[in-house]
Amino acid sequence: MELLVDILSAGPELEWKQNTPFSKKFDDPYYSLGCGLEESQHVFLNGNKLSQKFIKLVTNSTFSLAELGFGSGLNFYLSAAEFIKRAPSRSCLNYIACEKYPLSPSQIEKAVKEIITTKPPLISESESKSEPKPEQELANVFIEFLSSYNKIIQSPREARISPQFYSIQIMKKRINLQLYLGELRGDVKNMLEDLEQRKQKVDAWFLDGFAPPKNPEMWSKAVFRSMANLSKNGTSLTSYSVAASVRSGLAEVGFSLERKTGFGKKRHMLYGLKPLL
Ligand SMILES: C[S@@+](CC[C@H](N)C(=O)[O-])C[C@H]1O[C@@H](n2cnc3c(N)ncnc32)[C@H](O)[C@@H]1O
Repeated sequence: MELLVDILSAGPELEWKQNTPFSKKFDDPYYSLGCGLEESQHVFLNGNKLSQKFIKLVTNSTFSLAELGFGSGLNFYLSAAEFIKRAPSRSCLNYIACEKYPLSPSQIEKAVKEIITTKPPLISESESKSEPKPEQELANVFIEFLSSYNKIIQSPREARISPQFYSIQIMKKRINLQLYLGELRGDVKNMLEDLEQRKQKVDAWFLDGFAPPKNPEMWSKAVFRSMANLSKNGTSLTSYSVAASVRSGLAEVGFSLERKTGFGKKRHMLYGLKPLL
């Protein structure tokens, strides 16, 4: 079997369409061509009402977000920057993500750098002039992430904190990224089983695993069952996919679902909630 370092250094085979990575293996883009940041903000951050949830956190608490399909990490950078802006100062974001076919650092840089450094801020302006501007916060998150991600290649033993995952701590350790990477460990099912064994709980889910007909592994009944086991009452989920099989699979394991206004050309997106009893 190939070493993770080799897999990571090479990255998956990509095409580039409007500066957006497009997977040859899955014949699908990583996000909407040319507007990934706006889509991520609409579907994943606003869809899960993350700003409101972060503001309401109490000091010293931890919010756990899980993403199925880390890809370029765009959802992560946006969530981390929003967390730093909104959450009380001694709280932490625990961001858990699996990635079976990790992008190389240079692929990530190519995909993300231009979007997050040239776009005008999407998040409302800081109230105080002394706070960093939102786009600067986003750039800081990205720069710190990329430097740690590179270290996984340079010194994998140090970055790997258990056989299961790599930990990346940024923004003065307030953002803790647990990355499950590689053909075996990064597989969605393996990550979810591992989290279940550790009795981990998740506050919000990002379902971002290529279109269900192109990647059924990411949208299987076993995945939905584990998600339900790992959710609390009040845990939310969002996805750009409103496929009937996804809705019925998630409803079967107890999520209540709503179709909401989708992003761009997509009429709908999916919002789900593990009901409060
Ligand atoms: C639509 S892309 C994710 C986009 C991503 N959130 C971003 O911001 O770039 C789907 C991701 O899921 C990953 N993936 C596909 N099948 C997987 C599996 N069985 N387990 C874990 N990750 C998987 C792909 O390699 C890809 O990076």
